[in-house]
Amino acid sequence: MSQTLALLGGTPVRTKPFTSWPIFGKSEEKSLLRTLRSGKWGRLDGPETAKFEKRFAAMHGCKHGIAMVNGTVSLRIALMAGGIRAGDEVIVPPYTFFSTASAVVEANAVPVFADIDLDTFNLDPKAVEAAITPRTRAIIPVHFAGQPADMRAIMALARKRKLLVIEDAAHAHAASSRNRPAGSLGDVGSFSFQSSKNLTSGEGGIITTNDDELAASCRSIHNCGRIPTGIWYEHHVISGNYRLGEFQSAVLNCQLDRLESQTSTRDRNGQYLAKRISVLPGIYPQKRPSDCTRHSYHLFMLRLDGREFGAPRAGVLKALQAEGIPCSAGYGWSLHQQPMFRNKAFGPYLPNASKRLNYRKVNCPNSDLVCREQCVWLEQSIFLGTRADMDDIANAFEKVYENRDELKA
Ligand SMILES: Cc1ncc(COP(=O)(O)O)c(C=O)c1O
Repeated sequence: MSQTLALLGGTPVRTKPFTSWPIFGKSEEKSLLRTLRSGKWGRLDGPETAKFEKRFAAMHGCKHGIAMVNGTVSLRIALMAGGIRAGDEVIVPPYTFFSTASAVVEANAVPVFADIDLDTFNLDPKAVEAAITPRTRAIIPVHFAGQPADMRAIMALARKRKLLVIEDAAHAHAASSRNRPAGSLGDVGSFSFQSSKNLTSGEGGIITTNDDELAASCRSIHNCGRIPTGIWYEHHVISGNYRLGEFQSAVLNCQLDRLESQTSTRDRNGQYLAKRISVLPGIYPQKRPSDCTRHSYHLFMLRLDGREFGAPRAGVLKALQAEGIPCSAGYGWSLHQQPMFRNKAFGPYLPNASKRLNYRKVNCPNSDLVCREQCVWLEQSIFLGTRADMDDIANAFEKVYENRDELKA
């Protein structure tokens, strides 16, 4: 192997592609054809969504699963069902996808940003505590990258103050904390099945909960405000049609058969890679707390301290990509720095609260640091490969480190 960086004309560490996504086979084909031929394509007509809800909920330690069109709507419905009202404050991390906070605005509530922990990339419970005000009604911890947030500390805070806890588990299918599945750790869980996710039907989402009342409310809100004892044209609460269709559930039922073994493979490979590359100066893979009994590795994340490593992130990413390792910097900004928040472009939402809000003043230095300078992401499908794949990635990191002086400029 040439020691010259591929970026500078050397031979890349890796030329073979990594595992691609999505993975599907004959079972999906058969299931989709069966659904097509049945003519029962809607949630209320066929068996697939009802079956998927039961299986997914059971697998995630919950009595109830309510499947819906995506993992953004599921967050908003969880907030509505949980009794969040206009102007209530909801604590969210700034290091997450847009929806964690946009769903709060769409529920007419105020997102309040609390910083992440620099080692785990998850909400820092101390920052959450400091962000609580008399208006706070809920917390949305994100199990970022698929590693459960510090739910022990967050639930303790929430119980003391009677706050609703919605887990944003969009990355955390089959992840667990102290052997309890994500989605059953708070009051209600929200998952996404969008294309990139570890369980996918292109688009989709689900709410999980053990609370009968919350479940009934979510089910009603996702189904035009209907109730089980009502007639078809009888609508009880503000709501909409957010039901998941049968084709998507037909796919999800097959994907679910693979989830357990895929999650074990990702977790094994992710831990192996973390161990191999963490010996390099300035490389800090996402720290795994002892409570984390399974990481679903929707993303493999690390912090790259450019000063300690000896080269800045932009150059390292380019060099790794040239070595055949797909990787990226992830989010460019903390969420509160997105134009929507900076400009309070909330449309019809928050007409009163919006006057007192100034997202330009939010102070979340850990999130800013990882966005601006340090974070490196590798995507989940890579971790469905072999140990040799992990060795290629680790070898590429080592090669880039050895040649770091070439990347200083
Ligand atoms: C952390 C997080 N929350 C929520 C969502 C929203 O899910 P969806 O794309 O299904 O609406 C995503 C999706 O990318 C996400 O990453």
